[in-house]
Amino acid sequence: MATLSRPLPTDGLKTRLSATRKLTLALAEPLSDADATIQPFPDASPAKWHLAHTSWFFETFVLGAHVPGYRPFDERFAFLFNSYYEAVGRRHERPRRGMVSRPSLDEIRGYRAHVDEALDRALASLPPVALDLVELGINHEQQHQELFLTDVLATFAANPIEPAYSQLPQPACWSVEPLSFQPGREGIVEIGAGASEFAFDSERPRHRVFLAGHALANRRVTNKEWREFIDDGGYRTPTLWLSEGSDWVQREEISAPLYWDDHGTQFTLGGRREIDPAAPVAHVSFFEADAFARWAGARLPTEAEWESFAASADPLIGNQLDDARAVVPQPGGGMFGDVWEWTQSAFAPYPGFVPAEGPVGEYNGKFMCGQLVLKGASCATPRGHSRASYRNFFPPSARWQFTGVRLARDA
Ligand SMILES: [Fe+2]
Repeated sequence: MATLSRPLPTDGLKTRLSATRKLTLALAEPLSDADATIQPFPDASPAKWHLAHTSWFFETFVLGAHVPGYRPFDERFAFLFNSYYEAVGRRHERPRRGMVSRPSLDEIRGYRAHVDEALDRALASLPPVALDLVELGINHEQQHQELFLTDVLATFAANPIEPAYSQLPQPACWSVEPLSFQPGREGIVEIGAGASEFAFDSERPRHRVFLAGHALANRRVTNKEWREFIDDGGYRTPTLWLSEGSDWVQREEISAPLYWDDHGTQFTLGGRREIDPAAPVAHVSFFEADAFARWAGARLPTEAEWESFAASADPLIGNQLDDARAVVPQPGGGMFGDVWEWTQSAFAPYPGFVPAEGPVGEYNGKFMCGQLVLKGASCATPRGHSRASYRNFFPPSARWQFTGVRLARDA
């Protein structure tokens, strides 16, 4: 006789935890120990560090804090793999993460297995507060999966022989819809995450904002349009640029999106490729996005405009990270996928913002200065990790992420 079995509340969590941990390991599969050790620049981290730090997160906030008698894999890792949490102790300097040739990649895999086994044993008896931290740890690891890929791209781009991370499918012959503007909602709208589903603390509370008449573009800016901006002298026209952006362009000698060369090609995770004119432009900074918008007679959307538009638009999802690892922005798509979209909104606390309790309160809140919000998702964002209320954020000059542009204008 069949017995009815009710799933434990942790069943879904356990499945997603296991899938997330496996995907990170799969992403590291094509890398050698040397590939995984290099740090291409101070803001990027070695692949090995991402593998270890995501395990440190579970070890510190779940196992160490909520599992009596848990023994850390290696006491020294607390110093090596803490990212920025002041409340849990000292840490290795970020710009020197690439000097950690040991532990080896294999030892880090051993560390991951140790943490996975301990989580697996503990999951059924964890208190609700610890289960919430497991959920946070899964979402944290998904964020690092994206950073892992963009940091690998930066690492391979710095190698003169330009290795390919994966064999991406050859680009097809694409076309895109003509650019048009669609009116957004006007008046009082609500943005931010509701109470029921998982969201980071910075997405709450849900609150009302006022939107003046405006319209958003039906699609993102393409490589072809960006080429027109370059050919029109966009990078050399000071009146298009914010003062800080103008200083940055000159100081850094910027004249095209990151990874473009002068011969119509760009470096990708699949190696060097012809630039697809129909694909959305990627790897541009906020400064470039803002200057492009001014050149085009438009502006960047605010995060509230973007979010209310996404909530009412076709929920079509573009290319996002899944097992196939076809990590390349593709033409078409909807509001979520291919490239993140810069907004003109500062990453600031919502009215009534309360940081998460405990040491994980440092996760977002302390970065609410000097950063701009990006909405949507990219081709390196794991499937299932995007939502309309999501607030990605980077400083205005950052462009090693898959970052692009959707235009807006006043109605
Ligand atoms: Fe982290």
